Amino acid sequence: MSETFEKRPATGGAYEPLGAAELLDHDDRGLRVGAGSTTVEVAALAPDLFRVGMFPAGGQPRYDSAAIANEDWVPVEVSMQESDEELTLSTTAATARISLNPLRIGFTDASGREFAVDDEERGMGAVENPGVDVFSEPLGSPVRLYKRRERGERYFGCGERTSGLEKTGSHQIFYNVDPPLGHTASFNNLYSSIPFTLSMTNGRAHGLFFDNTHRVEFDLALEDENCAYYGAEGGDIVYYVFCGPTPREVVDRYTELTGRTPMPPLWALGNQQCRYSYMNEEEVREVANGFREHDIPCDVIYLDIHYMDGYRVFTWNEDRFPDPRRLISDLLEQGFRVVTIVDPGVKVDENYSVYTEGRARDLYCKTREGGEYHNVVWPGVCAFPDFTNPETREWWGENQRTLTDAGVAGIWCDMNEPALFVPHVSTLPDDVVHPGGRTGEARWHAQIHNTYGSLMARAAREGLLALRPDERPFVITRAGYAGLQRHAMQWTGDNSSWWEHLWMSMPQLQNLALSGVAWAGVDIGGFGGDTNGELLARWTEFGVFQPYCRNHTTLGTRRQEPWAFGEPYESVCREMIKLRQRLLPYFYSLFEECHRTGTPILRPLLFEYPEDETTYTADDEFLLGDALLVAPITRPGIEHRHVYLPEGTWFHYYSGERFEGPAHILAHAPLGEPAVYVKGNSPIPMGPDAAHTGETPADPLTLLVYPAEGTGESTLYEDAGNGFGYEEGEYARRRISCESSDGHIIIHLAEREGSFIPERREVRLELRGVAAAQRVLIDGEEHGPDQGPDGAVTVSLGEEAGPMRVEVVF
Ligand code: GLC
Repeated sequence: MSETFEKRPATGGAYEPLGAAELLDHDDRGLRVGAGSTTVEVAALAPDLFRVGMFPAGGQPRYDSAAIANEDWVPVEVSMQESDEELTLSTTAATARISLNPLRIGFTDASGREFAVDDEERGMGAVENPGVDVFSEPLGSPVRLYKRRERGERYFGCGERTSGLEKTGSHQIFYNVDPPLGHTASFNNLYSSIPFTLSMTNGRAHGLFFDNTHRVEFDLALEDENCAYYGAEGGDIVYYVFCGPTPREVVDRYTELTGRTPMPPLWALGNQQCRYSYMNEEEVREVANGFREHDIPCDVIYLDIHYMDGYRVFTWNEDRFPDPRRLISDLLEQGFRVVTIVDPGVKVDENYSVYTEGRARDLYCKTREGGEYHNVVWPGVCAFPDFTNPETREWWGENQRTLTDAGVAGIWCDMNEPALFVPHVSTLPDDVVHPGGRTGEARWHAQIHNTYGSLMARAAREGLLALRPDERPFVITRAGYAGLQRHAMQWTGDNSSWWEHLWMSMPQLQNLALSGVAWAGVDIGGFGGDTNGELLARWTEFGVFQPYCRNHTTLGTRRQEPWAFGEPYESVCREMIKLRQRLLPYFYSLFEECHRTGTPILRPLLFEYPEDETTYTADDEFLLGDALLVAPITRPGIEHRHVYLPEGTWFHYYSGERFEGPAHILAHAPLGEPAVYVKGNSPIPMGPDAAHTGETPADPLTLLVYPAEGTGESTLYEDAGNGFGYEEGEYARRRISCESSDGHIIIHLAEREGSFIPERREVRLELRGVAAAQRVLIDGEEHGPDQGPDGAVTVSLGEEAGPMRVEVVF
């Protein structure tokens, strides 16, 4: 196995912690202290966000890694106190304590809670004379930061990870690789790297983002149960502490720093279908027709690498796809968008203008000696764009015109760790040079390895925006670094058609969500190997609740389209995908919340119930928004599973059975009826059945409510579904609240905020789990109730107009 999967001792040499320090200077935000040949800067960027930088004295700190979206923080009120032993830097929310001999940094909040406190013995420092055989010249000294583990502190996050949600007692490697097909829960680093931990200590959260783009390792209380360390093979120590105290506040601030998920085009939330590869035009048409004939909703079909001419990026294979423009416009009429794969490797070929132009403009990575760096990927010998160079990114983005001119709707960035074939399962060597172009800053690959995928995705997104300024770009990426969410959504690469991978998807997506990547999904049905009917059906029962819903499989496997295995599996897939389609108004509202605040779409239970420690291990179930709890079956041949329901009243989506949480229950989930629970009093906006998102009218809009004693609310957000009018106020946001007490339910639809007027004309209320209604009053006027399906009470609210108060008496 390649060394990229193993712990490397480079961060484990003779460690020298910083010693005594003295104050050098201070300004409105923070201060600098000097410790020997090192300077350490501590600054408050927001009342609950501190940044610490350690760099060589006389140098300048770098706080502009590829992760950082926001360098422009509004002024905060900071007061500094100074004594011989200690300096403090206080905001309205928290205090950074800097003890001077030796230099150690820690944080407290207004309640006296201590967090992210340096280990007394080890603090931060560098590993002198690592004395190991790594390519050390470009790296400088390995650096490390040791933080005390608070009593009861538990670690989560770390981005795209295998295994369970909680990472306490683990060693984490952050180094993007394309692992061999068939990775398991014991694997460490995968395709993207987000060196961020969210800690929970006695119900309260804080976050730590170790912003270093070299190879990074964290030890989260594995080597020493009272301590965690954060180390990198080189570069400065730059880290950010998020004070919380809720996970929501941590993730909100973290995504303010590293960027938020852009508003997606609505079609990108629809069901999607892929295969490596749909080989030619006929096959693509057959698949598209298959969806319509089988009455299964679908919005997107992917073209994998065979659409290209000899895998040359930005070309079309004319034998397989003689007239892409016509194909794509025909598909659009059927309601399908087409997304094409693009890999970073550019085939070295004198007769291929993309290659020769990149060479003429000096846009590729170089060897140490100054030649063009070559390695082998799908097309054979390739050159690799230097995406650190802004000119490369512009050129790359502009090249997408070959695809967008034919009508391609989105770009799928793959192999961008980058993955190389020589040796197999490898990536660019440390000493490859990124010349940087007009940035004027050449860097070794080792210094920026983890950012290559993010920079490629950035080129794709910015290119799409330049080519089609009025459309929201859709970019999907496999690799990336912290902050990748502002350029692209992420899918988790090559999983396998195994039950274990179905299970692993859940903690993986939850940790990604806690690490800022809310728009993510795994390949439904599994990519590697043959799936089977039951696995595909169970996977679809889970997959439709992901923020991204795509079925994908590899070359040479059995067909995996939702109808591939006949009955009963086909019907299960159909009904689940139809449910997703109906849930799109709920999904879309969650995406808007995520775009505005960073709040994840798919959330671990601990995100909403941080004080309930039972949720910390409930990682094979999750929340979609705060109103739906999903607990998939992840083993063959069984129909029951344990589910933990947190505090509140919950209703089984299919049976209507009512549960009072907190409770451990045994759920019955026969095929086709997954264990999905709806929170009481939380109105869920749902659309009608439709074959795709473009089908109109999107009528009626149903507000599904399971009333329970008490109150609840949700938000419905709508806009044009594409374009940027929403930035100018062209959206409609509406709060819907529900109040229930003895035989009496009041639903308020608040005034619509924003200037967008939805096209729809019919809104209906569907109350489930209730007795037959006696009276319905809309704004005080009598209105007849209808008894809906399965005893539900439905009330037609007519044309959606102003605010409304609906009272139902039983
Ligand atoms: C990589 C991708 C996979 C794709 C294949 C061929 O393995 O992860 O999704 O189908 O390459 O392009």
